[in-house]
Amino acid sequence: MIRVGQGFDVHAFAPGRPLKLCGVIIPYELGLLGHSDADVAIHALMDALLGAAALGDIGKLFPDNDQKYEGADSTLLLKEVVALLHENNYKIVNFDITIIAQEPKISPYVGSMRAIMAPCCGIPLDCVSVKATTTEKLGFTGRKEGIAALACALIEKI
Ligand code: CDP
Ligand code: ZN
Repeated sequence: MIRVGQGFDVHAFAPGRPLKLCGVIIPYELGLLGHSDADVAIHALMDALLGAAALGDIGKLFPDNDQKYEGADSTLLLKEVVALLHENNYKIVNFDITIIAQEPKISPYVGSMRAIMAPCCGIPLDCVSVKATTTEKLGFTGRKEGIAALACALIEKI
């Protein structure tokens, strides 16, 4: 049995915060605001994986009023989600993330992002895709108020 899931997330830019996307710290004048490390791309991915398994969402799994997740490294949260899928007899087939950002340029970091996420998910590099797009200066992403991310994931019952 194969199952598909989708995820979507948004975080606002804020000064004095690191910008972390797909586990990679990207040099930029602004970072993303959030209770955890605000890695919007991994958040969208986790929601896609949980959605595929109908296991809820990250808000349910990692409540943002729980001190435990303050500043949490999203790659560690991702590993928890993958472990939960394994407990439920699911393995990840592949996933695809789209980062929607006017700035900064994401493409130079895509290789590092894939190399970080593939082992977290226990899947080969060629099953991990990260893309980026601007919104041609339109909307909140175009005004550089924040970053949005979309993810789509396929999982398989073992
Ligand atoms: O419409 P399209 O996505 O082709 O154009 P765009 O939004 O101007 O993006 C052009 C290219 O820049 C895309 O192919 C992305 O790979 C890259 N890009 C990026 O690296 N970082 C961003 N924040 C946005 C786009
Ligand atoms: Zn988030």
